[in-house]
Amino acid sequence: PKVRRPKNFICTISDDRGEEATYAGYPISSVATPDTGKTIGDVISLLWFKKVYPRWAVDFIETVIKTVADHGPAVSGAHNAKVTARAGKSVVESLVTGLLTIGPRFGGAIDGAAKYFKYAYDNELSPAEFLAYMKKQGIPIPGIGHRIKSLRNPDLRVEGLKKFAAEYFPKTPLLDYALEVEQLTTSKKDNLILNVDGTIGILMVDMWRSLGYSEEEIDEFIESGTLNSFFILGRTIGFIGHVLDEKRLAMPMYRHPWDDILYDVKKAEEI
Ligand code: ACO
Ligand code: LMR
Repeated sequence: PKVRRPKNFICTISDDRGEEATYAGYPISSVATPDTGKTIGDVISLLWFKKVYPRWAVDFIETVIKTVADHGPAVSGAHNAKVTARAGKSVVESLVTGLLTIGPRFGGAIDGAAKYFKYAYDNELSPAEFLAYMKKQGIPIPGIGHRIKSLRNPDLRVEGLKKFAAEYFPKTPLLDYALEVEQLTTSKKDNLILNVDGTIGILMVDMWRSLGYSEEEIDEFIESGTLNSFFILGRTIGFIGHVLDEKRLAMPMYRHPWDDILYDVKKAEEI
């Protein structure tokens, strides 16, 4: 009998051994050239999910990527990338310093939002019960709150995503629930809106449920960090833009001004 040599790696998404490499079985040329009508959303559905998603889902993914591509120079990641570029580092070095800020507070609350809102909805917690549950967990509700956006200054990215969902999603039960939660949180403080991370995480769950994924599969997506990956990918576009901007402007090394730092160091004799 044929004895198979044990393999060190397994790959289930792409294959480069033939004349033309494939994405989930599809030759690159069948998705890459304009005449195929395929978009980055299609490539993501093949390489991340190994499926051909229906048009509305592909378009949603594409919309999310475009929506999170940048939010100006002042946010954590763009700031880091700009400072690093000005220290003379390369595009890739500057980019990763930006990416490393993506986490539970900035851009990386998407998996958490999906996880906790899904839990609350599935367990039929009222919005008030959900808030009490999260208080017990001792963490801010992922997907709620924004530094500059509020009821008075709504986040138009969120409005855009909600509009897309209303038009193209078969149904949005988790978003509908999240909007009830938002009513309660914003009644406490008007910047505790459903933010862009929350909207993406929650709508992705609605999308996957409409596409027929099992609860186990959706939980696996959340646990493996799939949802934050949409932000990581999209914002990479903006971070690279900021790094190239710094390089083109030939900006000097950055040093933070003393007068913007509260120095509160004890004298040696006080220690
Ligand atoms: N859930 C519950 N309470 C909250 C939340 C939340 N998500 N966010 C803020 N609060 C409360 C705080 O407990 C605090 O209450 P207190 O005044 O009684 O102490 C008050 O609101 C202000 O809190 P700050 O941390 O100062 O709020 P800030 O506006 O600076 O924070 C932030 C913004 C970091 C986004 C925060 O809302 C948060 O951690 N949200 C959850 C994480 C998240 O969704 N991040 C993604 C943001 S979108 C993006 O990055 C693309
Ligand atoms: C972002 O997309 O980077 C933001 O929502 C964060 C911010 O403070 O603008």
